[in-house]
Order: sequence, then structure tokens, then C-alpha cells
Amino acid sequence: MQPKDGENLKKYHIITFGCQMNEHDSELIAGMLENKGFLPAENQHDADIIVLNTCCVRETAENKVFGLLGRLGQLKKQKPQLIIAMGGCMSQQEHIGKRVKQRFKYVDIVFGTHNIHALPELIDRVESQKKQVIDIWPDRKDICEGLSVKRFHGIRAWVNIMYGCNNYCTYCIVPYVRGREKSRQPEAIINEVEELVRQGYQEVTLLGQNVNSYGKDLTLNIDFADLLVKISEIKDLNRIRYMTSHPKDFCDKLIMTISSLPKVCEHIHLPVQAGSNHILKKMNRGYTREYYLELVEKIKKAMPGVSLTTDIMVGFPGESDADFTDTVELIKYVEFDSAFTFIFNKRQGTPAASMTDQVPDEVKVARIEELIALQNEISLRKNKLEVGRTLPCLVEGPSKTNADLMSARTRTNKIVVFRGKQDMVGMLMPLRITGYGLTHLEGEVIPAE
Ligand code: SAM
Ligand code: SF4
Ligand code: F3S
Repeated sequence: MQPKDGENLKKYHIITFGCQMNEHDSELIAGMLENKGFLPAENQHDADIIVLNTCCVRETAENKVFGLLGRLGQLKKQKPQLIIAMGGCMSQQEHIGKRVKQRFKYVDIVFGTHNIHALPELIDRVESQKKQVIDIWPDRKDICEGLSVKRFHGIRAWVNIMYGCNNYCTYCIVPYVRGREKSRQPEAIINEVEELVRQGYQEVTLLGQNVNSYGKDLTLNIDFADLLVKISEIKDLNRIRYMTSHPKDFCDKLIMTISSLPKVCEHIHLPVQAGSNHILKKMNRGYTREYYLELVEKIKKAMPGVSLTTDIMVGFPGESDADFTDTVELIKYVEFDSAFTFIFNKRQGTPAASMTDQVPDEVKVARIEELIALQNEISLRKNKLEVGRTLPCLVEGPSKTNADLMSARTRTNKIVVFRGKQDMVGMLMPLRITGYGLTHLEGEVIPAE
């Protein structure tokens, strides 16, 4: 319902936790709320509706949400007409819905990952019934296409190519809260990317928990490599990225395809999780250390200069000193450009949570500290190698850490900060790398001859 002229416009504020999937879902939520007549609020105090888009991959993420819900309870006391809605992966768990019902009665709406599109209707229900609405669907019936999306970035856009995950790694909650894999129809993806290009976007990141299994559930004969070929044909699109790639489904055809398509960037996020075969097996990852190392070799050979990033977990049940050493050795051997490191965390309902050989906390902490120190040293060494090179960069906007500088991105997904002008945003330009840090490079514009 659009507000009439002169009517007091309501404002929304979205707080997002978790991964890119959730970030993109928040873009969808923002799009739906704006369609309903809401405007973005400056902050949560200025909002008429606050939406929490939650994550439950680790306990810390959940604790943050409960802490925030407590604070929002105070806000609701001062502003009783405020609507608080909670969605995302955490809400999808049955025990969370129950807890919210009992302990956080002032939360007006709880919705899940499969019915995000129903939020506008749930808001109407709360406004008319004036009581808590909890609506969680057990699974996604069909993929909802054609919803309006409010993109938070102007140059690069996220595009879902599939939802859910079938892999059931024994530590992971995602398949339980995001459901089974469902691929979008290729035409729907291509139409979306074409529309993004018409709007001026130069770069897309294709999203899925395991993009390498794209198409397996479709009746069409299409796989991820075929999809990349089709997307590459879209005129005026400059860069294509994708995440996440599961190593077990990274086939030779895909390596050949990505190395031959100029628009596909030389960066692969390839979560290894562990370097020990014993642990990889217990994790149900579906590959061995040898397979992973061979895959890395094949990728590096096909794409010289490729940047590889990863996720690594320490303290999985049964991880011995020898298992951990295998992980350390693998990291030294592969030399990832960067890595997200995690301490194993029990997730209710996953097989690993009830494994009896849990690793003591102090061992987990010592291991992660060692891992972070090692990876930092490798990341710094690799970034230093870039100094003196001239790299094609896409300028994204002012730097997040220093407003006097601009921020651009290399094809290998490294951030380059440099002295530039606002009107360079959206330009693809060569930058000479002059310095480096742990998570960024420093660069300069090459003066015209
Ligand atoms: N689909 C991606 C893949 O296959 O690697 C990862 C998605 S998951 C949202 C992101 C990362 O969180 C995982 O790669 C894993 O390292 C970490 N993670 C998942 N469950 C975890 C748990 N129970 N404890 C600690 N880290 C976890
Ligand atoms: Fe979780 Fe494994 Fe699926 Fe990734 S592939 S989302 S880690 S179950
Ligand atoms: Fe992402 Fe967290 Fe859900 S990592 S898929 S938002 S559990």
C-alpha cells in the first residue's frame, strides 16, 4: 500500500548478521519495504519497523541477536508502536521460535528463510491483529521471482543462482535452516544480470552455498560452467565472481571454463576446513587432503596468478595434535591469499554436536591463535609481492577506513586504497601498487604520459 500525499511516511531499519546470502536477503527485504511505502531510517531509533536478519552458523551470532533483542525491548517500551521483526536462519530453528514466543513477547513478527517474500503481508497482519505473528515455513515451495530488490552497492551486485545446501557437513546448521538445493532457472538469472547491466552494474557475484552443484536439480541439461558461459555473453558486463565453491564438485570442465572466460575473475573461495583426512572424513566433506592439493595444483596451472581464499576450522571433535599439524602444513603449502578461521562450535541438531570426543576450549584457542598468526604472515607476504605491479582495478567508492581515499578492487578480490576522485567511481582503471597491509593494498593512479 503506497502512502497518500501528506501522509506520514514510515521508516525501516534492517540489521543483518551472517553471510552474503543474508546480506542479499536484506536487499530483498529493503526492496519489499520500500515497495510498501517505507523509507530508510537513519538509525534504529528513527525507525517504525526494525528487521533483524539473523544467522545461526555459530553461537556467537545467536548471542548477538539475543543481546540486541534485549536492547530493542527497552526501545519498544519508549515507542510501543514500533514493529520488531525477526527473520533469517536463526528464526528458522523451531526452538528459537519457541524461545521468542516465551521470552521476547514484544517481538511482533518471526519469519523464516523460506517465506521472506511474505513479510509485507505479515506486517499487515500485525497491524490489524495487534498480536505476535510467527510464520515459519518448513521448506521453500517455489522460488519467488520478480521481487523488487534494493541494492546496497552501486557498482557490484549479488545474484542468487541457487538456494539451500545438500551437503550436510556434520558441523553445519545451514542445510537445516536453508533447506535442500534449489537452482534458479537460467533465464531468470540471465534476465536479472541483464537488467543489472542496464542499470549500470559492472560486476556480479553469483551466490550459492555450493555454486558448483548449480543445475543438478533442474530438468534442463545445464551446469555451473554452462551458466558462466551464458552470463559471460552479456554485453557490457565486466566482471563475474562466484561463491562458494565446494572442492568436491570442482570439475575439470569448470577449471577449463573459468580459465578461458575473460570476464570471470581470478579469485576462488575454496573452503578446505581441515588438512587431515581423518577430520575431513568425520566432517563429511567428500574429499581428501590429496584431492584438495591436486585440485589447487590444477587451478594454479590453469590460472597463473589466481588468488585462493579459504575457510578453516580448528577444534572439530577428535582433532589431535597430528590432525592440526596436517592443517598447518596444508596452509603453508597452498599459501592462501587470505582465510576465514573458525573455532568449531556445537550446533544443536548437527551430528558433530553430539560427538563424544570434543576438544577442550584452551586447545581450540591455542590452535586458532597459531593458525591466525601463520595465515597473517602468508597474507602479508603475498600482498607484498603485489608492490610495483600495475593491476586493473574497479573503483567502488570512498574507502571505508579513510574517507580521504578511494577504494577499488583487483580481479583477485583485493582492496586497493588510493588517492582519487569521486567521479572515478565505476571506472575500470590501472593502479600501480605502492604499499600493502594485511587486508588491503595501497595504490596510485598512473599519471597520463
Ligand atoms: N558453503 C560453504 C562451504 O561449503 O564451505 C560455507 C558456508 S558456512 C556459512 C561458512 C563457514 O562457517 C564454513 O565454511 C565453516 O568453516 C564455518 N562453520 C560452519 N559451521 C560451523 C560450526 N559449527 N562451527 C564453526 N564454524 C562453522
Ligand atoms: Fe554447510 Fe557444508 Fe553446506 Fe557449506 S557445504 S553450507 S559448510 S553443509
Ligand atoms: Fe549464512 Fe549464517 Fe545462514 S552464515 S546461510 S546467515 S546460518
